[in-house]
Amino acid sequence: MSLHRPASSQPARASSMRGSLAAIKVLVSQLTPYRGRFALALTALMAGGGINLAFPEIIRRALDPSVFPWILEHLGRVMGLLALLFIVQGISFYVRSYLFGLIGQQVFSDVRGKLFRSIISRDVLFFDLNRSGDLASRINADAALVQDAVSIKLSVILRYGLQVVVGTILMAWMSWRMTAAIVASVICMVLISSIFVRSLRAASRAFQGALARLTGFAAECFAGAKVVHALGAQDSAGRTFEVMNSDVLKRGRRRVLVGASFSSGAGLVFNLLLLGVQWYGIHLVISNDLPLNSLAAFALYGAIVAVSFSFLVSAYAELMQSIGGLDRVFELIAADPGPSAARGRGFAPIEDLSVELHDVSFSYPSRPDVPVLHKLSFALRAGAITGLVGPSGSGKSSIAQLLLRLYSVASGKILLNGTRIEEIPEGVIRASVAWVPQEPFLFGFSVYENLTFGNEQLLRDEVIKAVREWGFLDFIDTLPDGIDTVLGEQGAQLSGGQRQRLAIARAILRRPSLLILDEATSGLDSQTEQRVLEAIRIAVPSTTLLVISHRLSTVRHASTIVVISDGAVFEQGSHEQLSVRQGLYQQYVARQALG
Ligand SMILES: Nc1ncnc2c1ncn2[C@@H]1O[C@H](COP(=O)(O)OP(=O)(O)OP(=O)(O)O)[C@@H](O)[C@H]1O
Ligand SMILES: [Mg+2]
Repeated sequence: MSLHRPASSQPARASSMRGSLAAIKVLVSQLTPYRGRFALALTALMAGGGINLAFPEIIRRALDPSVFPWILEHLGRVMGLLALLFIVQGISFYVRSYLFGLIGQQVFSDVRGKLFRSIISRDVLFFDLNRSGDLASRINADAALVQDAVSIKLSVILRYGLQVVVGTILMAWMSWRMTAAIVASVICMVLISSIFVRSLRAASRAFQGALARLTGFAAECFAGAKVVHALGAQDSAGRTFEVMNSDVLKRGRRRVLVGASFSSGAGLVFNLLLLGVQWYGIHLVISNDLPLNSLAAFALYGAIVAVSFSFLVSAYAELMQSIGGLDRVFELIAADPGPSAARGRGFAPIEDLSVELHDVSFSYPSRPDVPVLHKLSFALRAGAITGLVGPSGSGKSSIAQLLLRLYSVASGKILLNGTRIEEIPEGVIRASVAWVPQEPFLFGFSVYENLTFGNEQLLRDEVIKAVREWGFLDFIDTLPDGIDTVLGEQGAQLSGGQRQRLAIARAILRRPSLLILDEATSGLDSQTEQRVLEAIRIAVPSTTLLVISHRLSTVRHASTIVVISDGAVFEQGSHEQLSVRQGLYQQYVARQALG
């Protein structure tokens, strides 16, 4: 996946042409839903362009000595006709720019949606490797690229392309010799410019990449603003930003430099060529090979074609610039899995869930050479509470994530009711397993929306009744709008323990068969913790529970306590058994004075 691909492994240059073509193809395919509108916009575009091109020919006819007296005679009618042409041109201009703008906005919105769905459906490795701020900023920035490409660049290219082609044909009709001279020079120019286009694309990719890194860093800083303040790190954040910012500027400058030299150079050379051709034309007039009014019309066509051509070239150059970014967008869009079955809804959960881990070894895909779990085996009895304790970094949260199948084991097997976890549809796992992570995560929505996120089929009354009964969410009543109070970003307006309690409630509302509490009560005083644990047992009496904790008071009532150390099971048994056995658990007991 190119997002985390280093710059050096970009596709070989030889395929860059094919790459552009492919990108343009995908770009055009985004327009399919709007083909009716697009056809109308195209018609308006052709009408407007056609009228533009008619004027030099009208002038040529008007200046023809045999026609001129007739015109003077019918001046009123001629002027009226010209006014009508301007009106039609005005209307077609309006229709064209409105429709292209509208299509642009629609494609913008489609692409944003597709990008979001595609990114959020990525496996967790993708999120281990990419920064969330970076990804978030790209949804808009990248979709804007596509919008700009379809609503501005495409329209400009079609309009001026049309004028160049038809203008050239009309010029050839007047003097094929002069036109041949122009066309030959243009072909030379196009060949030379293809070299420029390549460096434009590279410069553009580099710029986009640097910009994404910068935005990602800024988003992280803002999200962690409190930590930045507490560390007194505003200045060093500012300096880091400065370094990244000047990198963006450097790459931006290069992009501008390449772009400006390209479009101005092309325009200049073309104008000089045209001047030469006109000079040749004057000679043709002197030698009576070309009527003067034709030379005048030719010059006007030449001007239209020249101006159109320079717009065409710079639009093309800009399109090529954005194709660097478009490649990445389309790669992501192509990976859009489409609407999922809400990954959980509609799937029946596994009842009476028991879990067995057999010789499970695991390392994170982002760090494959660092073993995290090593031949680890234990079981969770259906309906029972299993405690999991062990030193920090011993692999407890990793086990939780394997049970959610966010990652896959390297060797060994995990069985849910005897079936290998890899063979169970993801939807069934999502419907069966609920997880309260070590760092509870809430959205900046209301309490109610947080409780039902991903579980929207719950009835409001049901939720309110459950919350009342459980009794550990009474703080909701003290919030300004009760259950409809909107929490700040990531639930910032709540205390750590309140966030944890909400996260637990959200998990219980899913009625899971297996509930994993990963340090989920670490922020609660022991009394509140006991209340929460009792409420859980009452709310979901037959659910298999895995309770991960450093605090022995949290796990001491578990039917089995598994002690792990360095990714392997050190010992297991009940609190009473482990307390009298000389081992890690006994050391914990001594330290936490839980005799
Ligand atoms: N996403 C990740 N990518 C790579 N390595 C990871 C990732 N998450 C954790 N690790 C590594 O895996 C090891 C086990 O981590 P884990 O989070 O499972 O420990 P833990 O027992 O839950 O610790 P704690 O009690 O501190 O929460 C650690 O060495 C950690 O550095
Ligand atoms: Mg952990």
